[in-house]
Formats: sequence, structure tokens, C-alpha cells
Amino acid sequence: LEEPKKRLPRIGYRTIYEDLREAICSGIYAKHDAIPSSRGLAEELGVSRSTVNRAYEQLVAEGYIVVGPGTRPRVAADIHADRTVHQSEPVEVRSADAELSAFGRRLIDSHQRQRSRAPSLRIDFRYGSIAGEDFPLANWHRSVNAVLRRREKVLSYQDPCGSPALRQALQNYLWRARLIKCSCEQIIIVNGSQQALDLLARILLDPGDPFVIENPSYAMARNSFEAEGAKALPIEVDEHGMMTEQLGGQRARLAYVTPSHQYPLGGVMSIERRMQLLSWAKRCGAWIVEDDYDHEFRYDEKPVAPLFSFSADARVIYIGTVSKSLSPGMRIGYAVLPHALTGVFALAKQLADRHNSVLEQDALADFIQSGLYERHVRRQRRKCNLRRETLIRALKDTFGDRVEIQGTQTGLHVVIWFRDIPITQEAELIERAHTMGVGLYSIRPLCNPPLPGERNKQIGLVMGYASISLTWIVEGVALLQKVIGDLRL
Ligand SMILES: Cc1ncc(COP(=O)(O)O)c(C=O)c1O
Repeated sequence: LEEPKKRLPRIGYRTIYEDLREAICSGIYAKHDAIPSSRGLAEELGVSRSTVNRAYEQLVAEGYIVVGPGTRPRVAADIHADRTVHQSEPVEVRSADAELSAFGRRLIDSHQRQRSRAPSLRIDFRYGSIAGEDFPLANWHRSVNAVLRRREKVLSYQDPCGSPALRQALQNYLWRARLIKCSCEQIIIVNGSQQALDLLARILLDPGDPFVIENPSYAMARNSFEAEGAKALPIEVDEHGMMTEQLGGQRARLAYVTPSHQYPLGGVMSIERRMQLLSWAKRCGAWIVEDDYDHEFRYDEKPVAPLFSFSADARVIYIGTVSKSLSPGMRIGYAVLPHALTGVFALAKQLADRHNSVLEQDALADFIQSGLYERHVRRQRRKCNLRRETLIRALKDTFGDRVEIQGTQTGLHVVIWFRDIPITQEAELIERAHTMGVGLYSIRPLCNPPLPGERNKQIGLVMGYASISLTWIVEGVALLQKVIGDLRL
């Protein structure tokens, strides 16, 4: 028997009129926005064009939209509904949700420890952002166009390890920039270093496994490992990086380190400690994850060779990113893996998202191979060096010995400690600065457990400067001085 044909309800002009009016009043379409053409909407809804036209005439008559010859109808200029906020709000998390997996529950726990999203600020010292005007738009355009011109005969899924052109370009680049000798097969392209951390956590850690991490450390790395249920073994750091002598007889499955530029305090791991870390890893069969996130921004001397190059028994996984040099929004990073891990890492990558966007990978390959990337990095380094010097000078001139500035030789941020303001004033200082339009961020969420000694009693701020102009850097420090002047000390 044939199934009786289900009839779709007929859409009349009134429904179209009411739905569009609602969309305009709630800000889904804001003033001047184009709304669908009557032909397009009629086709979409399966109604006659005259039905749509009737709805549009009603909206014109009531002043919601305007129509002109040869253009799409637009929302009228005097409609003032607020545009619907499309940016994601801070995730609202419900705790104690029995329907979640253990992984889901661990995510909620770590979320509760994180700081909330800041409102938009005039001068934002948030670490991680870079200035929009620094992006090499014209040259990037050129590389994207070069890729688009090479039209593929068939569009299909690609190798999860990444585009061959980009892996080749990175193999050459890593040798030039970091003296890393590896084969293309060892390089796997990921969606930012964050994805490498996530995939490594999945393939190397089981719930309950101990992992070593610097304290203070990069919270996103720690969160990835803890979300797998692994247990952190925090190790203190000083100006020579992780104090590997504290590793002693500790056993762990993995150690996460930032040896070229300890995040966030800025130490560079000494050769002795590098050797100590490698022999500890060998002794207990641990993997080392080396996060080389900002090596392009070393201002004083040549960067120290990465741990990866020292590891004779291939226990080091090296990860890098273009988030500092090009844009954090690009989401391109790379992992250089020991041969033993490439296969399983590629499987995890394929399961996560098949592979990165081919267009962007190939554009980056072109950008690197044509020499434009390194030219851009040199320019960026000069610009960020100026920002860095301006910030340090402004802080010294304004606060003199009251502040200690740490981690000044590399990267896109510094850490400052106020010697004479009690920690109890930190929240108020940050809050007041925010109300004046200045974004400041405490180092506290990165310290777990709290740092020993005096540090735990001092106000410590992580100040990123890569997105701020020189004038605003100076202005930001002046406002900080004003905020401090207003505190009841
Ligand atoms: C220590 C560290 N690693 C890695 C990154 C970059 O991560 P991604 O490549 O996922 O943007 C950052 C960015 O702030 C960082 O501070």
C-alpha cells in the first residue's frame, strides 16, 4: 500500500510577514541588513513570488524595510533593535550533571577554576591576541590566490597528517629556524598546538596517570591532560626553567615543558637541566612534550636549540604554532613526533576532524616556501620588540623599584610583580582597571599549587603587549598608576 502523502501546511503571506517582522525586531536582521530577495525566498519556501511580495509590501508600508530598483530589500535605517549577539557567551555550566561522562564532569571542574571572559576593553593587556593591522594581508592574499588558481580535478578528503606541501615547507623551515632534523613523515599538521596537546593526552595518558608540569604553567595544557583524568605533578621553575632536580625519583608518563621560554615566567632551560630532564625521561620511560610556542620572538640572542634535537632515544614530541607569528585565529600548528608515535597520532587526528582545511594549509606552504613568512616574522619581531621596550620603559619610569619585571627577553608578554601592594588588593586593582577600560590579568590561575615564599604575597600580572599600539601601552601604564593611586594601601 502506498503511504498517504503528507501535506505540508501552506505558508501564507501573513506567516512570512510575521516571521520577518519578528526577526527584525529581535535584531537577527539589524538596520541596513539585506533580507532575502523575493525570488530567493519564494523558491526556498515553495510559495509563489506574489505571496512573498505581498508580505514585503506590508513590511514596507509599516516602515520595517525599504526596497529599491535592482537591489535586495534592506532593513530600514531607523530600526533600532539591538543586534542578536552572535559571539558565544561564556559557557554556562551546570555542575553535578549525572548524565555526563567522567570526562565531561572533569571538564566542568576545570572550567570552574578558569577566569571569565573580559568585556571589550580599550587597552587590553590580554596575552594571546595580536594586532589586526600586523597581519600580512596583501601577501597572504597572494598565497591564497596562488592556491585557488590550482584547481583540483576532484575534491576529496585528504591525508589526516596534513598537506604534503606544508609538511615539506615546515621540514625546511624547522631546519633553518630551529636546527630540527626530521622527515616530512614525522610532521603532522594540527588545528593549533592545542589540538596536539589534546591528541597527545588521548593517546598517551590514562585516568590516574601522573604527568609532570611546570608551576606556574600554561593552563590549556594542564587542562587537556587533567581532562583525561591524569594527575599533575607540578614542579617549580626559576630563571633556568623547570627545576629538574626536583624530579628525583618521581615517575610519570609524560612531562610538558616550555624550555625555550618558560610560560609564563620566561626562564630558558639550562643545558644541564635539559640533560637531566632527558635522562629522567629515559629512566622512567616518560614522553616529553616540548611546547615551542613563541621561538620566533627571541630579542637578545639566537634561540637555544630545542630539546627535540638532543633526544637520542626519541622521547621528545615537539609542537609549534603560527598563533604568535600570524594569527591565533588561523588554527594551524604542527607536531613533530618520534616515528613510534606518528601512526597512532595520525589515527587520533583523523578521528578528531579528518584533517585541517586544505586551502589554508597550502596557502601557508606557499607563504613559507616563497620566503614571505620569514620576512613577515622579522618585521613582526622588530615591531613587537618596540612594544616590549616601550612597556618596560613605561613600567620602570612609572613604578621604579616598586615593580619587578620578569621574562623580558623573549615572547609577547612579561610578568610583573608589585613588591609593595598586598595580594589582598589584587582583585580590586584588576576590577578598577577594567572599569577604566584596561584589561589586566592575574598570574594566579596559572599557579597550582600557589607559588612558595614572597611570590604568593605579591600581586603578579601577565601582560601581553602584541596587540597594543605604543601610545596605548604608555596610556595603559599611566592608567594602571592611577588605579594604584586610588587603592587604599
Ligand atoms: C604556552 C603556549 N603554548 C601554545 C600556545 C598557542 O596555542 P595554539 O597554537 O593552540 O593557539 C600558547 C598561546 O597562548 C601558549 O601560551
